[in-house]
Amino acid sequence: MSTSSPPLLDVAGLRLEFRTSRGAASVLNGVSFQVHAGETLCIVGESGCGKSMTSLAIMRLFPAPPGRITAGSVRLDGEDLLQLSEPAMRRIRGNRIAMIFQEPMTSLNPVMTVGRQLGESLRLHLAMSRAEARARSIELLRAVGIPAPEARIDEYPHQMSGGMKQRVMIAVALACRPAVLIADEPTTALDVTVQAQIFDLLRELQAREGTALVLITHDMGAVSEMADRVIVMYGGRVVEEGRTRDVLERPAHPYTRGLIACLPELEGEARRTRPPLPEIPGMVPSIWELGTGCAFRARCPHAAEPCARAAPDLLPVADHHRAACWALEAGTVPAPVQGVAA
Ligand SMILES: Nc1ncnc2c1ncn2[C@@H]1O[C@H](COP(=O)(O)OP(=O)(O)O)[C@@H](O)[C@H]1O
Ligand SMILES: [Mg+2]
Repeated sequence: MSTSSPPLLDVAGLRLEFRTSRGAASVLNGVSFQVHAGETLCIVGESGCGKSMTSLAIMRLFPAPPGRITAGSVRLDGEDLLQLSEPAMRRIRGNRIAMIFQEPMTSLNPVMTVGRQLGESLRLHLAMSRAEARARSIELLRAVGIPAPEARIDEYPHQMSGGMKQRVMIAVALACRPAVLIADEPTTALDVTVQAQIFDLLRELQAREGTALVLITHDMGAVSEMADRVIVMYGGRVVEEGRTRDVLERPAHPYTRGLIACLPELEGEARRTRPPLPEIPGMVPSIWELGTGCAFRARCPHAAEPCARAAPDLLPVADHHRAACWALEAGTVPAPVQGVAA
């Protein structure tokens, strides 16, 4: 981890609100994290914790209205994306920061050939000619492991399998050699063998291009396989952050422990074939139920009086490892549980 150099992506104190007829609700409550070139940061948490809204806020692609960013900054190489005009932001998206989504069919255009979708991005951002774009598209399809790319470039998305479509999405995302790639649950819709292939592909491309990868997942197994560092989100906040091994071996937040406890002694294939959803009793609160206090308290075995009063800040647990829990604040840190080795 190259924490001595300035981060490529620096998200600080990001707040996102939804304003509807029911009033205002906080979707993100001061989310901060940094990613360096060549590093993989995983954002993990159950469905509804704010992972996708975090990535959409970075890209400025959240629904607005009802969404509104009320505080924070998103610095890419020092430049705050939140201050850019929309045309300037369009030049960044798909160019310096790219994103891949869970469901390739929702982001690939069904009436455009694969070649045209790849080519548009290349021609828009890199001002390539039609012929150059086609040649580069074939090269990209080959790089993401699509067989016979010279033929498949003229196919439509529906002619491809789910795994092939996700590879095309990755090719589209990588077309302009983005400095940062955000992958939001990129393998959730795919079967386990294809999941493993996509992870291998992401790792290989990252190693080759030095891309900073933000991988969003609800799967602790994917975290242990992919991440250099991890942030755990709950209720629109970062509740724990640290190096992967530290967080997985010595999780400090009761929520992280809950996520990990559901994945005992995972190794290799077993990790990939296990259902990813953890079984922590209770449910993620909706943004309307958050109120004050720690969002996890209703499900937390250590919940005590202070937990209802205010949400705790992140506190140091060890070097480069922090967690937001009143039990840590009080010094009544529960003994670390045995986690999964990274
Ligand atoms: N269009 C929307 N309208 C109202 N609430 C929404 C909308 N989209 C997301 N949310 C809420 O925002 C919160 C965060 O959602 P999201 O970032 O999609 O979670 P995750 O990706 O972690 O599953 C959730 O509580 C979700 O219900
Ligand atoms: Mg999501």
